[in-house]
Amino acid sequence: MSTPVVLVAGGTGFVGRRLVRDLADDGRDVRVMTRRPGDHDGPGTPVGGDVSRPDSLEEAFDGVTAAYYLVHSLGSSDFEARDAAAARAFGEAAAAAGVRQIIYLGGLGDDDDDLSAHLRSRREVESLLGAAGVPVTVLRAGIIVGHGGISWEMTRQLVEHLPAMVTPRWVRTRTQPIAIADVVRYLIGVLDNPDAVGRTFEIGGPEVLAYVDMLKRVAAIEGRALPVVQVPLLSPGLSSRWLALVTDVDVRAGRTLVDSMVNEVVVRDPSIRDVLPFETTGYDDAVRTALDERRESG
Ligand SMILES: NC(=O)c1ccc[n+]([C@@H]2O[C@H](COP(=O)([O-])OP(=O)(O)OC[C@H]3O[C@@H](n4cnc5c(N)ncnc54)[C@H](OP(=O)(O)O)[C@@H]3O)[C@@H](O)[C@H]2O)c1
Repeated sequence: MSTPVVLVAGGTGFVGRRLVRDLADDGRDVRVMTRRPGDHDGPGTPVGGDVSRPDSLEEAFDGVTAAYYLVHSLGSSDFEARDAAAARAFGEAAAAAGVRQIIYLGGLGDDDDDLSAHLRSRREVESLLGAAGVPVTVLRAGIIVGHGGISWEMTRQLVEHLPAMVTPRWVRTRTQPIAIADVVRYLIGVLDNPDAVGRTFEIGGPEVLAYVDMLKRVAAIEGRALPVVQVPLLSPGLSSRWLALVTDVDVRAGRTLVDSMVNEVVVRDPSIRDVLPFETTGYDDAVRTALDERRESG
């Protein structure tokens, strides 16, 4: 019998690259789906596949028993429609190939809250992925702390580039940041796990922090003084243009993320801890690791 193949859609991204590396280290037969398979030089076997072109997915799914979905189109103006169509197509291709489990990393946020377009779209993807009948395991996360992650890069660059933190109202919103290593551990822990198939979990680090406290803690670790100047009426439009000025985050992606910063992203349902009990990394340690990785990568 041939070894089961695990497909990682988004295996070239911030989360996906680390997941592929650890799955390969665990001895899994990993297939990395990307729009540019010729450029892939990491672990795993690259395969071409574009979720916006359903006909390109059949080859990627050949022989696959489980598939990770780590794709988004945050930088596009029509990300909601694109991400919905893509999730439906991916779920259909998975069902046609007889896949037993899809694992999706989505976003935290309360359904009762007035969720931003980004968080609503991430939530919609959860059900569309499973619409063709493949059981989906959903892991919902807030900010992921790790070198190269978009939300973490916004945090780091704000702290490093601003003489003072000019703070709109959203800086008081509470979040529960999680270290990238813990996200990957959860992603691997739910694979083929009968206690996780078809279930939705919320994942977060050990601390709930307001955005402003995350910024202050990074500043303290980097030995910077960061006076905070309150500007409660800074609009999301201005906030994202201002983010684009002081960080290298794309304006459109920045705007989409800023719009989400009014929504509290904390874990309400801790049931993942019964399925995969381990101590998650503290925020300061996650920050130090991300900064070390940045230094090592030059
Ligand atoms: N970063 C965070 O802080 C964070 C927080 C919570 C949840 N998440 C979730 O984690 C997941 C992964 O995020 P990430 O930060 O790792 O993203 P990322 O670094 O931006 O990577 C995005 C991936 O999507 C792939 N992709 C984009 N469009 C595609 C298409 N049309 N067809 C096939 N592949 C496509 C890209 O592959 P190619 O360009 O090689 O084709 C790339 O590997 C997302 O579901 C996100 O919502 C992230």
